[in-house]
Amino acid sequence: MAFRITLSYFLAFCLLHDFGSAIPTVPSIAKRATLEEWIVGQGPVAFSGVLANIGSTGAKSYGASQGIVLASPSKSNPDYFYTWTRDSALVFKALVDQFITSEDTNLQIEINDYISAQAKLQTVSNPSGELSNGAGLAEPKYMPDGTAFTGDWGRPQRDGPALRATALIAYGRWLLANNYDSAARDIVWPIVRNDLAYVAQYWNQTGFDLWEEVNGSSFFTTAVQHRALVEGSAFAGSIGQSCASCNSQAPQILCFLQTYWNGQYIVSNINTNIGRSGKDVNSVLASIHTFDPEAGCDDATFQPCSPRMLANHKVLTDSFRPVYGINNGIPQGSAVAVGRYPEDVYFNGNPWYLATLAAAEQLYSALYQFNKTGSITITSTSLPFWQSIYPSAASGNFPSSSPTFASLTSSLKTYADGYVAIVQKYTPSNGGLAEQFDKSNGSPLSAVDLTWSYASFLTMVSARNNILPASWGADSANQVPPVCASSSATGTYAASTNTNWPNFDCNTAASVQVTFNVLASTVVGQNIFVVGSIAELGSWDTSKAIPLDASRYTDGVPLWYGSVNLAAGAQVQYKYIRKEADGRVSWENDPNRSYTVPTSCRSSASIGDTWR
Ligand SMILES: *[C@@H]1O[C@H](CO)[C@@H](O)[C@H](O)[C@H]1NC(C)=O
Ligand SMILES: *[C@@H]1O[C@H](CO)[C@@H](O)[C@H](O)[C@H]1NC(C)=O
Ligand SMILES: *[C@@H]1O[C@H](CO)[C@@H](O)[C@H](O)[C@H]1NC(C)=O
Ligand SMILES: *[C@@H]1O[C@H](CO)[C@@H](O)[C@H](O)[C@H]1NC(C)=O
Repeated sequence: MAFRITLSYFLAFCLLHDFGSAIPTVPSIAKRATLEEWIVGQGPVAFSGVLANIGSTGAKSYGASQGIVLASPSKSNPDYFYTWTRDSALVFKALVDQFITSEDTNLQIEINDYISAQAKLQTVSNPSGELSNGAGLAEPKYMPDGTAFTGDWGRPQRDGPALRATALIAYGRWLLANNYDSAARDIVWPIVRNDLAYVAQYWNQTGFDLWEEVNGSSFFTTAVQHRALVEGSAFAGSIGQSCASCNSQAPQILCFLQTYWNGQYIVSNINTNIGRSGKDVNSVLASIHTFDPEAGCDDATFQPCSPRMLANHKVLTDSFRPVYGINNGIPQGSAVAVGRYPEDVYFNGNPWYLATLAAAEQLYSALYQFNKTGSITITSTSLPFWQSIYPSAASGNFPSSSPTFASLTSSLKTYADGYVAIVQKYTPSNGGLAEQFDKSNGSPLSAVDLTWSYASFLTMVSARNNILPASWGADSANQVPPVCASSSATGTYAASTNTNWPNFDCNTAASVQVTFNVLASTVVGQNIFVVGSIAELGSWDTSKAIPLDASRYTDGVPLWYGSVNLAAGAQVQYKYIRKEADGRVSWENDPNRSYTVPTSCRSSASIGDTWR
């Protein structure tokens, strides 16, 4: 049985991913498309890829509660069918920024659901602890129904509360700007306040890094903690509150942040002894998630255009040149595939989509900053970076009116696009973004449909198009105290109980993406379809039935699923059918099933059935 299921999973996987005959071959559509065309086409794939993994109505989220973000629908090899505080917050920061640009009311419903789910998650006691002293807030992951995950894990992870505060504050600012002050004050702030209190109290203790492997101090964690307290204090002020512990701790966190810089690059993990170089995309992720469009090329806050961050970009990306076969022969100054860290052994150590996209995003954000500040200053720190992409670069200050500025920025843009082109090259033709791609042949590896991979595509595109996130105050929070001190401010914590969102204006969805989920045990060769009374469901004609997907089928949860767009309010009769390899059809037992497509602002819905 196990073998059969594995085989059927494999077949479904191949069908879905359409690898063609030879796995290393780049899919033809991607090959034909220019980078611009590919980026435009991939945008909606990435956007719907994110939404598919958000409960309870996302197309691949069966089993996840409302507002819960799955890391991936993958349930085995690896099992990522959980919700991580970090991943969810990074994903929702990207969605909030999309919402602020688009004012897409469907997205707003998702954001409200996410925030409501976080209010509840904060109160769940878990192996990291409880809310009462804050310790439980740093639990890295929860079950998809929002209950505690009690297995062994690398915990606590102290970046989660900071990132969640940042995501919620981004939405809180929109609420204030649009006269929803009470929602900002009474719904968003109580959750944010707990997370800020957590950061202020625990930032100076070790914990696990974003890759959940190293117990120590992590540059990414420290950087996002600093950001959260700075913008947390400002957000508190904007709703008539205050955050004294944000103000007392933020400068000390900034002071500590400097100690990760070794003169040449950022050593991403300190206060630990792991026998690694410390070169880690951790640092580049920190720079893109603490990018402040109002800041200059500031070294203290490690802005994307800062000499330190550019130097680090080169040292880090160079570290992947010798370790991945697909980088063989790519010359200095041209982009390479980027992974987490060169010593990585997870799945044998491969490039990651989100890491390669982050390498591009840092450079696009840097380009914005150079353009805005009106000059590029090349220092001895950043010179090797510049020389690698523009060999005649020399130290000095180059105003935007100079030809050198034009050459440098043009080389930088080309170089940044190179990283995106690597991702294009190794993305299958259906646009699905897994976690990793094989270091030797570039084929997708590890978890399929990684939510964070899709979100990293969205933020890369925004940076490339100069669609800017809000400033978080880096420009006035870059004074490093002369002496660093160990410190902490003990906080108070309280459950946030108000999730009564106001009635936002929203448009009733005309069409609803309805996902049919059915638990139906099958053997190899059998496939499950849904057929029903309306044309979209084949008008009871079994040859026009909608095929369902078994890519998440397991012995325990024999799930077949698929989505169809149906008109809001439509009344539907349907049944599931099973087709044998030779085409014979078996129908479910009577009666016919009935469903009315909801009429609301929500544009997605989900049905959970069991074969009968
Ligand atoms: C605490 O802060 C001090 C001062 O910056 C620093 O030396 C120490 O390494 C920090 N420890 C941790 C675990 O953050
Ligand atoms: C992580 O490191 C700290 C400080 O060195 C130690 O107290 C703690 O027990 C470690 N945690 C785990 C899970 O190893
Ligand atoms: C640089 O800034 C100017 C003026 O703000 C703007 O018009 C232009 O599009 C920017 N260029 C780039 C490459 O961002
Ligand atoms: C189910 O629907 C079909 C098509 O309308 C109909 O022929 C059949 O009688 C229905 N079955 C039951 C049990 O009502």
